[in-house]
Amino acid sequence: MATSASRFGARVLTDTLRRPLRDLRISVTDRCNFRCVYCMPKEVFGRDYPFLEREKLLGFEETARLARIFVSLGVQKIRITGGEPLLRPQLERLIAMLARISGLDLTLTTNGALLAEKAQALKDAGLGRVTVSLDSLDDTLFRAMNDVDFPVGRVLAGIDVAARAGLTPLKINVVVKRGVNEHSVLPMARHFRGTGHTLRFIEYMDVGHSNGWRLDDVVSAAEILSIIHAEMPIEPVEPSYRGEVVGRWRYCDGSGEIGVIASVTQPFCKDCSRARLSADGQLFTCLFATTGHDLRSLLRGGASDGDISDAISRVWAARTDRYSQIRSAQTVKLPKVEMSYVGG
Ligand SMILES: C[S@@+](CC[C@H](N)C(=O)[O-])C[C@H]1O[C@@H](n2cnc3c(N)ncnc32)[C@H](O)[C@@H]1O
Ligand code: SF4
Repeated sequence: MATSASRFGARVLTDTLRRPLRDLRISVTDRCNFRCVYCMPKEVFGRDYPFLEREKLLGFEETARLARIFVSLGVQKIRITGGEPLLRPQLERLIAMLARISGLDLTLTTNGALLAEKAQALKDAGLGRVTVSLDSLDDTLFRAMNDVDFPVGRVLAGIDVAARAGLTPLKINVVVKRGVNEHSVLPMARHFRGTGHTLRFIEYMDVGHSNGWRLDDVVSAAEILSIIHAEMPIEPVEPSYRGEVVGRWRYCDGSGEIGVIASVTQPFCKDCSRARLSADGQLFTCLFATTGHDLRSLLRGGASDGDISDAISRVWAARTDRYSQIRSAQTVKLPKVEMSYVGG
């Protein structure tokens, strides 16, 4: 098994490219109350779409048990995601179980639709902070992009309630798609500058196989930065740790930071330390994977923690993924799992 000595003397699990396992994204549902055009287009995710049945989803006890095993293997940060995680009833119960794992950085990504109602309960349960996805401040455009006519004002209200509840520092994810919302970049930067919330612009990616991705639709991080720099000068910030996927920039006048996630134009596979657990307990070692590894069968088949730990270690030790570095016209057509399923 691939291991090397850590700075604490313990053995560190590494993959074939010597990348440690540090981050885990846990999807708690594959369902969503939005139909963002770049993620769950309505034509594909319609009434007849075969979403996971209830009994296939991991229960909170099962999820928490896996989380503890992942932490014993080196995971330091867990992000709860989906689909839309706040659709999962009583999510705060799971948060409370995970918050008991000592030393863990616990966060959650949400579209913000239910955040105003849920923020305080999540905070009380022990959630550290949230990331809210928001692609435009223009109500008409936002309603069109979420494709369920959801008003932007309610997401903004959710952000305010979350900030007041102390789920900070709060991050706001913006996916930029050419011809759709690149005109929202400057208004977003103006609005959130000086608020303490960090905007993070994400290059539109070829996740899944249903969003009709084309390279021409990607607005590069370099282009986004130059749009902002022309009006509000920015300068680079040193990464906080090796392998940070976000390129960090700060406003030269000290009014805050922004980030760019350039997974298409500047792939960060070489430092990727992230695993993903789907809501039905499949382990994926890449966002662009086509198949997962079944941990639910182990959980429900009576495997011990040691057995499960060994199974995860074997999968990680054999990991070779570096999709974004080898992306091509051919790879784009692969039957990759959907982001709403594997956990964004
Ligand atoms: C899949 S969502 C799940 C969590 C929650 N529903 C939300 O929207 O925040 C996680 C993140 O993935 C981003 N995302 C979805 N599809 C994407 C794509 N094709 N390219 C880049 N980012 C994408 C979303 O904007 C969101 O910030
Ligand atoms: S990005 Fe999030 S909110 Fe939008 S459809 Fe995907 S899972 Fe839902």
